[in-house]
Amino acid sequence: MDQYNRIISEIEPSRSVTLMAKAKEMQKSDPSVINLSGGEPDFATPEKICQEVAKALREGDTHYSDFRGNADLRKRISEKLLEDNGIACTADDILITPGGKYAVYLTVRALINPGDEAIWLTPGWVSYPSIVQASGGMPVAVHLDHKDAYRVHREQLEAAASDRTKLLILNSPNNPTGKVFSKEDLAEIKAFLLAHPDVYVLSDEIYESIVYESYQAESLAADPELADRVIVVNGFSKSSAMTGWRIGYLMCKSKAMTVIQKLFQHTLSCVSGFLQRGALVALDCREETEEMRKAYSRRRELLLRELSDVPGLHLFTPEGAFYAWIRFDVEEDSAAFAERLLDEAKIAGVPGDAYGEEGGTFVRFSFAASDKVLLELTKRLRRFMTAQEND
Ligand SMILES: Cc1ncc(COP(=O)(O)O)c(C=O)c1O
Repeated sequence: MDQYNRIISEIEPSRSVTLMAKAKEMQKSDPSVINLSGGEPDFATPEKICQEVAKALREGDTHYSDFRGNADLRKRISEKLLEDNGIACTADDILITPGGKYAVYLTVRALINPGDEAIWLTPGWVSYPSIVQASGGMPVAVHLDHKDAYRVHREQLEAAASDRTKLLILNSPNNPTGKVFSKEDLAEIKAFLLAHPDVYVLSDEIYESIVYESYQAESLAADPELADRVIVVNGFSKSSAMTGWRIGYLMCKSKAMTVIQKLFQHTLSCVSGFLQRGALVALDCREETEEMRKAYSRRRELLLRELSDVPGLHLFTPEGAFYAWIRFDVEEDSAAFAERLLDEAKIAGVPGDAYGEEGGTFVRFSFAASDKVLLELTKRLRRFMTAQEND
């Protein structure tokens, strides 16, 4: 008999979480290490939010809440989804979860039976395939091509589909590439979905508020022809600098919600009521969210400017989120190269293979960091790549 759960035992640990821990450990003995492997805002949670939670605690809001989440928070989220994303839904379609990641887990777990397949697009977030596997399903990767600016084509989705396809996982703005689906991408995806009426969609919109220039994150859940089978995942980690709070939500208009809710009741009971009070205030911190977005935008400009002429280095222009997705002209694979960058240049980023990228040697660096740190990053990358050229 196996000692541990066979499926979970075989899952890879999260590469980004593991790398972040390794770089933090290295920083203790060598403060010159630049750690850009994480995926979190470097800003403090807005003060108003913290004050509301302190008040909630003083008022004794420390008991179980409605398992679905506080009614006022769910109502406010349904209003936000309509105002910002054009998604028509009610408070009953919302479930408050401990972070977006758990919302992804609940959705996948509620939909996937053993042997079912879930299509995910690569480069894509490290946790999607692992969560599908943990649920007994089969992740099926559709490789988007950097040479084609990561456009989505219906034929690729068709080629990945089978009679076991249950779910299509989408993420825009994308982690790690920063790509935002264009209207053409969404049209291709929609055409595929209309031809496969039994396929659900998990639309991970966690970076939706962080977009640049005229890019806009559009949700398929706003499309009346698809709305009933799109489950939206979002949260407060990235938009309000609340990664450590562990609070997010999902929106589901289909009967899948009852299955999701049952799993939630038996595994979580509810999200802390006092945290939800903070989340309600976060939804009214538009100015603060916009200030953070503007800061990311300035840092993005800095990277685009400083890295444009570094030899052997190609930065994919981020359209959203806060990641610099860089392709390096080197012989090694991304894991070996990222390891060397850490050892020799003291820069920690996440190698592209962790995101299923197969089209070259890529590394993802977060640019949720100060200008000083980012300038140092660009200097070290220039020095490192110039030395490669001269070798
Ligand atoms: C694409 C994507 N989805 C979901 C999450 C989960 O965010 P959280 O669980 O902090 O809300 C992350 C966090 O890094 C992410 O990058």
